[in-house]
Amino acid sequence: MLDIQKIRADFPILSEKVNGKPLVYFDNGATSQKPQIVIDAEAKYYQEINANIHRGVHTLSQLATDAYEISRVKIQHHINAKFSHEVLFTSGTTHGINLVTNGFASILKPGDEVVVSSLEHHSNIVPWQMLCEKTGATLKVIPMNENGELIMEAFDALLSAKTKVVTVNHISNALGIINPIKYIIEKAHAVGAAVLIDGAQAVPHLKPDVQDLDCDFYAFSGHKMCGPTGTGILYGKEDWLNKLPPYQGGGEMIKEVTFEKTTYADLPHKFEAGTPNIAGGIVLGTAVDYLNNIGFDNIQKQEEALLEHATKRLLEIEGLKIYGTGKNKASVVSFNIDGIHPYDIGSIIDKLGIAVRTGHHCAQPIMNFFCIPGTIRASFSFYNTIEEIDVMVEAVKKAKTMLS
Ligand code: ALA
Repeated sequence: MLDIQKIRADFPILSEKVNGKPLVYFDNGATSQKPQIVIDAEAKYYQEINANIHRGVHTLSQLATDAYEISRVKIQHHINAKFSHEVLFTSGTTHGINLVTNGFASILKPGDEVVVSSLEHHSNIVPWQMLCEKTGATLKVIPMNENGELIMEAFDALLSAKTKVVTVNHISNALGIINPIKYIIEKAHAVGAAVLIDGAQAVPHLKPDVQDLDCDFYAFSGHKMCGPTGTGILYGKEDWLNKLPPYQGGGEMIKEVTFEKTTYADLPHKFEAGTPNIAGGIVLGTAVDYLNNIGFDNIQKQEEALLEHATKRLLEIEGLKIYGTGKNKASVVSFNIDGIHPYDIGSIIDKLGIAVRTGHHCAQPIMNFFCIPGTIRASFSFYNTIEEIDVMVEAVKKAKTMLS
């Protein structure tokens, strides 16, 4: 069992007060809090080795370059990528997805099809829509059922020789549903389609094994897994990354430049134009170490207990409905109370120190499916406690009484 109080002591913000009340932070789906070791690592980089990377013979530049590349290898091992050059540093999941859709603009033709799911975050819908507009390809959508689960028979029926890309999230940000991505990847590959997995909501909860999954691309953000904001990773299979054109032109992504012609650098540099978020990339490695030291088995056990308790306690409230009732779920509870706008509940419980997200969670198609404007989303991390859930439940009851 985890010593949660000891873990909480690693996170300075968790002992802060908000609106005069002890902070109860349940907006981990939006971004996680940062342990002191991550905060210190960022300062240490600037205090001791700040320099540009891959560019200098001087000592600081080499130290910074080494630290950056060590972090890349650490992340390679964390996700079990075959090669470190399949691990690209990005600014986050959105950047990773756009890098891929930009590349597919030179591959897709009119008549080709891109399959997305109805559970996607806007960042895994809009770039594909833009790609379809540009290329004349058609966007197809895997439907969902009332429990918030994707309908696999309907997915099977969408696949054909026309399907060139399939993309789904590993875990839905709005509902917490864990998608059957292994099945999806296998079926998509059977018709020759490439698969991108949006892992933004998965990496705080589990350790993806990209070789076992056999996905072609896996994009995620650093800030949701105790790392700094503005960091992320795009994993891509070597073959695909070699096939796709560069995303941005600039320094360090070239082999040779003349005014007649430019040749591009090898992977991963071909996709890393410009000075990157060096401190962030290095410190993302620190965050990955921190999570692995706690252990993902322990993280999952704690989060399962939180999910079970929150589901049970919230359902005690009359008129409360949970969205996303499928069996395979991460520690997210999305709910509404009959006749009350989610924003009103969110605002009242904020006054009591409780941070949840309210609204459509950048997943409007899900809200349209349920015919609601949005939900109240409580998303839990391993550093949250059962007692905090009880505090939230009492606060929601109070808000309901005030608003009824
Ligand atoms: N995608 C993040 C969320 O779900 C911001 O809240």
